[in-house]
Amino acid sequence: MEYITLGRTDMKASRIGMGAWQFDENAWGPMDYERAKSVVARAYEAGINFFDTAAVYGRGRSEEFLGRAIAELGLREHVYIATKIPGEWHRRNDVFKSVENQRRRLRVDAIDLIQLHWPSCWHNVPICETMKALEELVDRGLVRYIGVSNYPTQLLDAARSCLSKTDIVTSQNRYNLLEREADKELLGYLKRNGIVLIAWSPLAKGAVTGKYTPQSLPQFNDVRRNDPLFQPENLKAAMPLIEEVKRLAVKYNKTPAQIALNWLIRDPHIYPIPGAKSPEQAIENAGAAGWRLSDEDWASLDKVSREVAEKISYVTY
Ligand SMILES: NC(=O)c1ccc[n+]([C@@H]2O[C@H](COP(=O)([O-])OP(=O)(O)OC[C@H]3O[C@@H](n4cnc5c(N)ncnc54)[C@H](OP(=O)(O)O)[C@@H]3O)[C@@H](O)[C@H]2O)c1
Repeated sequence: MEYITLGRTDMKASRIGMGAWQFDENAWGPMDYERAKSVVARAYEAGINFFDTAAVYGRGRSEEFLGRAIAELGLREHVYIATKIPGEWHRRNDVFKSVENQRRRLRVDAIDLIQLHWPSCWHNVPICETMKALEELVDRGLVRYIGVSNYPTQLLDAARSCLSKTDIVTSQNRYNLLEREADKELLGYLKRNGIVLIAWSPLAKGAVTGKYTPQSLPQFNDVRRNDPLFQPENLKAAMPLIEEVKRLAVKYNKTPAQIALNWLIRDPHIYPIPGAKSPEQAIENAGAAGWRLSDEDWASLDKVSREVAEKISYVTY
């Protein structure tokens, strides 16, 4: 495993992190605590030391499983934990209450990275009220770093302007070979400002691996049922990209998931957190680091990715 300093933090994170949304069985299908624990254990053995979760994943269940596993495995001093506060809880008092509950579920004194999961769309909370509450939590040592997720560039910039003692260090957004809207504006802003893009759905929820076709959709009635990417016309449009990923997998003797993640980590500003439903997937995803696609192959994959991503449509009816 390679390790990098995560942006302007002191965190020496494994080049590939791990997402723990998969510990929410309502979203991703069957998952019990013992299985979650073995995913964490094997991920750590494979070198992964950065874990992302959120309050809403299973209404606290993902945080509980992750915190318990890390505590029982004795890993707290060796890993970083990132979690998120949903957009509905951005009032000052709710931010404090949420973080209190999250620290308890995660069994930590301080959360390494707290992220605003999405903007306060419906509650009209002024952005500076939330940001100042987060800054206070940093001051009190209950949170180490602040990040946002799914914030458009302009709102992220406004959020930063509310802070006087600290800054936003990460922005968590969807970014993968099939979904690259962040290229248009956000990624440039983040690079200019030394903010890391934490890439969610870095495997396009499994779609980039080629294991799903209109004829063979995910086994469980999971989050992908209503995901536009898994509609037949989009899976069909994705085929040229999947073919290119598979061609490179054979050439490099890697798996399609490893090719898709290796494409992402070429850029030092991009940090993928693939979700794993099994210990095997966690180990496989860790194997995406420690080697490089050649410049030529990276560029060829990137070109097909740009062409195909343009053809994906989120309007499905
Ligand atoms: N901030 C946000 O709004 C937001 C939104 C979404 C996710 N996230 C975070 O980002 C993390 C990752 O995103 P994600 O879970 O949406 O999608 P993802 O990482 O792109 O895909 C994960 C899914 O892909 C499949 N998979 C994983 N490793 C694989 C491998 N090596 N080979 C083949 N298939 C593999 C698994 O499902 P199957 O085995 O069933 O195919 C797994 O559930 C989440 O866990 C969460 O922490 C954040």
